[in-house]
Amino acid sequence: MNYLSANKINKSMKEAVETAMAFTPDPRAHLIERLKVLLANGYVFYYDAHSAHWNIVGSNFPQYHAFFEKVYTQVYEELDDIAERIRIINGLVPLYIKDLLNLSTIEGTIGGTNGATLLHKLEHDNKVFLYNLKECFELAEHAEEVGLSNFLQDRIDAHKKLEWMIESTLKGE
Ligand SMILES: [Fe+2]
Repeated sequence: MNYLSANKINKSMKEAVETAMAFTPDPRAHLIERLKVLLANGYVFYYDAHSAHWNIVGSNFPQYHAFFEKVYTQVYEELDDIAERIRIINGLVPLYIKDLLNLSTIEGTIGGTNGATLLHKLEHDNKVFLYNLKECFELAEHAEEVGLSNFLQDRIDAHKKLEWMIESTLKGE
């Protein structure tokens, strides 16, 4: 199996997951619950990026408008896979959007319409989503869900790359 190199996984994350698993008789049930949170955060992240694409104003509109489209497209394309992988391991996906909103751990709202302000919000969303992905990866490994852990590993790489692009853009502001 392809594991992420040790330095890509936060050590405290591994410890937190191991502690949680020590008290969880059913690793798959815990994994399903955290995947639902991942799906919820994905929907919030997707919407935040799309609304940033719509609301951006300023002289750098073209660059930000295009970049926000890239972000919401990437996140949106992940949502179907995340939901179907919950079903594959016999979990049920929340039926209503309000259930997802209750599950989301992404905080705050976008408080402005300039590019840097909107991008700072998406930086926060991406950090929460990345943490979630790493947590689910550790749980999938623990539950010996090989295909799922490989999927999550690929998403971690994609969101690390997104983190780099967001941070690099903000350094120029
Ligand atoms: Fe558009």
